[in-house]
Amino acid sequence: MRWQEKIDAKELDYVSNVLKNGGLVAFPTETVYGLGANALDESAIDGIYRAKGRPSDNPLIVHIGNVEDLEPLVNEIGNMEKVLMEAFWPGPLTIIFKKSERVPMKTTGGLDSVAVRMPDNDIALAILKECRLPIAAPSANTSGKPSPTDASHVEEDLMGKVDVIVDGGRTGIGLESTVVEVVNDGVMILRPGGVTKEDLKKYFENVFIDPALENEDADKQPRSPGQKYKHYAPKAEVYMVAELDVLIDSYHIFESEGKKVGIMATEENASLYEELNYIVVGSRTQPETVAANLFKVLRDFDAMGVDIILAEVLDDLGINLATMNRLKKAAGGKEL
Ligand code: TXA
Ligand code: MG
Repeated sequence: MRWQEKIDAKELDYVSNVLKNGGLVAFPTETVYGLGANALDESAIDGIYRAKGRPSDNPLIVHIGNVEDLEPLVNEIGNMEKVLMEAFWPGPLTIIFKKSERVPMKTTGGLDSVAVRMPDNDIALAILKECRLPIAAPSANTSGKPSPTDASHVEEDLMGKVDVIVDGGRTGIGLESTVVEVVNDGVMILRPGGVTKEDLKKYFENVFIDPALENEDADKQPRSPGQKYKHYAPKAEVYMVAELDVLIDSYHIFESEGKKVGIMATEENASLYEELNYIVVGSRTQPETVAANLFKVLRDFDAMGVDIILAEVLDDLGINLATMNRLKKAAGGKEL
């Protein structure tokens, strides 16, 4: 079932009942579409893992619509967490807390902590406020594929496997929330996302990035279990290419091997690719445009049937840190 853009009282009531009865509802957030179910209902949670084909040790993010809904889910809310909530909720920031007894281990992938966020999207907030349940919601894609930034992406992956898909149009940010944990003397980023390191720096002197993210071949386990899986990957093979002449040479080499190639280009460099097959993902001077379009362009290349995607590399500043994190995972770390 699907609706356009808005959700009225009757529809809200319907969706809310589906959730209360243990069903699965895909809904828009400001980051990507989520696949929601009652976070306190173990069989509903089983449904999420089954629909996505997700490994059961990869914990889910719990979404709330009111700050008061946090307390029953956690043991304690520290002062630094309070600052984070004040500053960034509703918004693309997920905070890790010690979980209370009420939250099933199934929801947290066996961890004694729980990840919580309040999304900044009218439809998501309306649903959360209506059902008054904490809603576990991973991105609404098949596990391993690019996250959905449009209801049509959810349909591609999950049609027939979920009870309702609520269509809210394109999502704004296009990459998932930033996952953070308060550590002794600062805030640690476990997954870069919509809230940037620079944003966090305005509130905290010490902002760290989980070392396992920066040095992937180290034997360190990432603190965010999801970061260890191959992810965000289209069917095509993705390569990250820093030098534009290497990119163009590689294009011709792959093509001479009979492969269909596509370039993920920034607006600034598009004129260099005139004779080649490329899609503009966004502008280097407006990094949020690249973030917003990344997952869609990966899916568009699949729809075109390309075998190889050559992607330009950006710097690691602001939202680009998250964009490059996702692209690196999509490429399985492959560079040319
Ligand atoms: O923007 C988002 O966060 C989207 C929308 C739908 O809200 N959701 C999302 O969920 O990206 P998912 O399941 O695709 O990613 C959840 C991430 C994973 O990397 C997981 O490892 C991490 O959050 N996570 C969840 N609980 C955790 C915990 N207790 N400790 C550390 N990491 C946790
Ligand atoms: Mg995901």
